Amino acid sequence: MNEKYVHGYTARESVRLVDQANTLADILHSGIVYPAGSNVLEAGCGVGAQTFLLARNSPDASFTAVDLSGESLRAARERVSSHGFTNVTFHQGDIFRLPYEDNRFDHLFLCFVLEHLPNPVEALACLRRVLKRGGTITVIEGDHGSTYFYPETPDAKKAIQCLVDIQAEMGGNSLIGRQLYPLLKKSKYDDVNVSPRMIYVDSSKPHLVEGFTKNTFIAMVEGVKEQAIRSGRMEEASWDRGIRDLYGTTGEDGTFVYTFFKGTAVKSPHPASG
Ligand SMILES: C[S@@+](CC[C@H](N)C(=O)[O-])C[C@H]1O[C@@H](n2cnc3c(N)ncnc32)[C@H](O)[C@@H]1O
Repeated sequence: MNEKYVHGYTARESVRLVDQANTLADILHSGIVYPAGSNVLEAGCGVGAQTFLLARNSPDASFTAVDLSGESLRAARERVSSHGFTNVTFHQGDIFRLPYEDNRFDHLFLCFVLEHLPNPVEALACLRRVLKRGGTITVIEGDHGSTYFYPETPDAKKAIQCLVDIQAEMGGNSLIGRQLYPLLKKSKYDDVNVSPRMIYVDSSKPHLVEGFTKNTFIAMVEGVKEQAIRSGRMEEASWDRGIRDLYGTTGEDGTFVYTFFKGTAVKSPHPASG
């Protein structure tokens, strides 16, 4: 996974994940409170940017946070314990080979993970195995096709398309948000509900200009500069204009719009339904 993960495991990416989670906390975590005593699995916890919010918002639930990357897990453990939370256990592991017995967890949570997997239905099915009957899954994903902004230029749009194409070439899908409903259905979850969460940014919302447009979205596009140019997808001058134009949307008259998708579903309480 390391070499096949489009955003990589750099220090800058860790900062980006934390900025992203903190900036979007209200819009993405609203309504997520797990009951006291429940066991919750967070799959693909990364550097713990979401884990910290989960642990804070449900202090009486117990979380197990899993990721492939040992380095990310070390950062996650440090982040959560430095805030004084003791309700999270970290494990290095693979979603496709989870070392837990069937029906172990009351709830599942994953955020910005399916977009990096070539086989999201299989991942959701592996997760379903460890979920108790009647338990819930919450899945949050973005969709880069939902991006529009002002002023809009061809170079800026091309730079975003490079990220979409490079991620697809690496087996991921940055347009996955719109597919959450069919993916959860195909993976045999019941009561699937998907809600779009739109972020609208203009200069009257400086925390979103910094935290979302610059530090989450543009930083993510900038992360594939080398691959975009090396692969011949864009000339360097055109790329640099595209990034400059994206920053142009963060000016006094600029606007930026993006939609995340939050899906929830249940594992049927009835064995007959699978
Ligand atoms: C974009 S990061 C998101 C991290 C975190 N959920 C967040 O929102 O900040 C995706 C994470 O999924 C992890 N991951 C990818 N495939 C995985 C797998 N098969 N099993 C466990 N973790 C995986 C990666 O190592 C990475 O840390």
